[in-house]
Amino acid sequence: MPLRFVHCSDIHLLDLVGTHAGHFFNKRLTGGANLLFNRGRKHDKGMFDRIVAHAREYAVDRLVITGDLTNLALDSEFELVRGKLRAAGLPVTVIPGNHDAYTRGSVRARRFEHYMAEFMDGERSGGDYPFAQRLGDVALVGVSTAIASLPLYAVGEVGGDQLSRLAGMLTTLGRDGLARVVLIHHPVMPGVAKPRHGLNDRDAFARVIADHGAELILHGHEHRRIDGDLPGPRGPVPVHGIGSGTYLSQKPGRHGAFSLYDASPAAITRVYHTWDGAKFVAEAPATIRPAA
Ligand SMILES: [Fe+2]
Ligand SMILES: [Fe+2]
Repeated sequence: MPLRFVHCSDIHLLDLVGTHAGHFFNKRLTGGANLLFNRGRKHDKGMFDRIVAHAREYAVDRLVITGDLTNLALDSEFELVRGKLRAAGLPVTVIPGNHDAYTRGSVRARRFEHYMAEFMDGERSGGDYPFAQRLGDVALVGVSTAIASLPLYAVGEVGGDQLSRLAGMLTTLGRDGLARVVLIHHPVMPGVAKPRHGLNDRDAFARVIADHGAELILHGHEHRRIDGDLPGPRGPVPVHGIGSGTYLSQKPGRHGAFSLYDASPAAITRVYHTWDGAKFVAEAPATIRPAA
């Protein structure tokens, strides 16, 4: 049986009710109030509710979210997100994005890991990341790129230790014949991210994929659709970057989006959905057959 799942990203859930002005007297959150104000105009959290409703209509096995669930990594935001995910009525897998590690304090407190633990259970070989969830013939492999960065920076980093654990995990899962779906927040193809917005150790990540392989890589962060691939040991590994799940923009490639996947070791089918201003519209299905 293929694994059927919905992928979305960068939902940046926001509820200003309950966010006290006191949060913004903190110097680390300079610009935070502006960020929330802009976010409130450009994103609609009701769209996430629609994605969950579609996921249930499609009878998916799981909902997968590749980071930036919050904006400022505040406790109040994580509480909102956790409540929404618990109410979704289906299994959920998450990884963190740079906004989920917005301040050094949130990273030190392991706030994301604390609130999201129930959506990240799985096999580990030391450290929180990567983790692997074996779901039939498919393994979801959750990678973290979340580091607190300087104001106006939105960089990410996997780090040497996590990369070596990832290499071992991909080898084991590949040997077991599973379709390996790697979840990572930042884009991983060269030249995609603007300076100050990219993955610091992108080249090292790409080398791990080139040596150890994967069947699919899913990411977010850019709030636009980016389709491509990375070299793998047996041919190209497809890389799907998805638009933000809650973005109201109608600019080409930047529409709010989610994807429906049916994944198995033999084939992966995707149906990309875009927000047309009033509803999500499904594109024609596209099938990828992993290199033999
Ligand atoms: Fe984002
Ligand atoms: Fe991001």
